[in-house]
Amino acid sequence: MSLVPPFAPLTAAQVDLLQQRASAAAHNAYAPYSNFRVGAALLLSEVPTEPAAIISGCNVENASYRLTTCAEQNAIAAAVALHGPGIRIRAIATANLNGAACQPCGACRQTILEFSSPETVVLFPTTNGSSTQATIAELLPAGFILQHD
Ligand code: THU
Repeated sequence: MSLVPPFAPLTAAQVDLLQQRASAAAHNAYAPYSNFRVGAALLLSEVPTEPAAIISGCNVENASYRLTTCAEQNAIAAAVALHGPGIRIRAIATANLNGAACQPCGACRQTILEFSSPETVVLFPTTNGSSTQATIAELLPAGFILQHD
């Protein structure tokens, strides 16, 4: 099912590093209500692809449950804060400490779409303990795009 576009693929080292950073971020998650600790790590386009350029986030829950923010959204917010509103996501990896197969939720897909380009890939854990990748178009084929005069 992979429709990963014909851009230079991520190297195995980049994939490993993104997954490691996502797992590290998951260890910092604040998830006392769900006990589902999630981390996300992203690599930006047009930013040097050295390890230091990877930006991560984790889920932060709240006693008023609906105020919870997801790992992917927090990583993207941190990236905007660091690099400004023009960022484009080259790749975003997610991890959780529950060993669960887990794709970004619908809201996170829409947030990723906002900062995506045709080269954006999303890496996420699958059932057998490994991971796979997909384009945002595969994960959110009819995402919302604001069109107005
Ligand atoms: N969560 C994420 O961080 N990312 C997702 O894409 C889905 C869900 C978090 C939110 C909540 O703290 C916990 O996982 C359980 O839903």
